[in-house]
Amino acid sequence: MKDVKHFLRFSDLTREELDSLFKLTSEIKKKYKAFERHHTLEDRTLVMVFEKSSTRTRLSFELGMSQLGGSSVYLNTKDSQLGRGEPVADSARVISRMCDLVMIRTFEQEMIETFANNSSVPVINGLTDQHHPCQVLADVFTFIEKKGSIRDATVAWIGDSNNMCNSWIEAAEILEFNLNISSPPGYEPTNLSESGCTKFFPTPDAAVRNADLVTTDVWASMGFEEETKLRKLAFQKWQVNKALMAQAAKNAIFMHCLPAHREEEVTSEVIDGDQSVVWDEAENRLHVQKALMETLLLGPSKS
Ligand code: CP
Ligand code: NVA
Repeated sequence: MKDVKHFLRFSDLTREELDSLFKLTSEIKKKYKAFERHHTLEDRTLVMVFEKSSTRTRLSFELGMSQLGGSSVYLNTKDSQLGRGEPVADSARVISRMCDLVMIRTFEQEMIETFANNSSVPVINGLTDQHHPCQVLADVFTFIEKKGSIRDATVAWIGDSNNMCNSWIEAAEILEFNLNISSPPGYEPTNLSESGCTKFFPTPDAAVRNADLVTTDVWASMGFEEETKLRKLAFQKWQVNKALMAQAAKNAIFMHCLPAHREEEVTSEVIDGDQSVVWDEAENRLHVQKALMETLLLGPSKS
């Protein structure tokens, strides 16, 4: 539907919109920590549709909406008509007539696009097989908090060229930072941007050299569980461990969207070590998504 602003992939926001979103996130976080009320979405409602499991996404959206003065409803495929063949377009028309915002976690990006095309309210991507833009919003915000501007910084993505990797590729293009990707043969990204900010490296060592941020994710994402055994063999050399972190910039930080599989894609020593910012990163999902919901409903912050 026309004139409805959705967030289906990272590139749905411009650089200016992102700058103002991160500014609003800082304000919202500060107020929350000071126990100050920020009820900009009083009486507004969010519907959350989950077709895959979640801890962080559900909590951060549900609690975030309540902290903004609104409320939310959780739907899953098992006990709604969504799992019984009601067309996505019809579900979108009905659900969007009853609420102000919709967040969806599903398999195919196409489903969320069909939903958005038929929704009269903004739709947010809470993860698809192809993208995880809310997580990368939180990750970029965390980087800015820890290290200042991300422009011209170097981020190393080690592992699967999955939904997270795709959202990082879009973020690098818009926010103009260097993204070094290293994945095992057969799991490389196919969609590197033309601007040259994203580069592929056949070995993780080369990708992390001088990186300000090293980040990774599980070897088998949700929906790819059947490939777990095969992937464990293929990804062995793409583990983020102390030796790999030692090759990044001296003050490099480590991020993981979580949940993590310790001693697979990352060692406990790294995820629990001094360079890891994963708990701040997880918390920032809450703050950044509150800013996102506010922005989609009320427009970019003027402050
Ligand atoms: N990182 C993330 O999206 O976590 P959940 O799967 O727990 O929502
Ligand atoms: N790439 C992971 C992220 C989980 C938050 C998955 O899709 O399962």
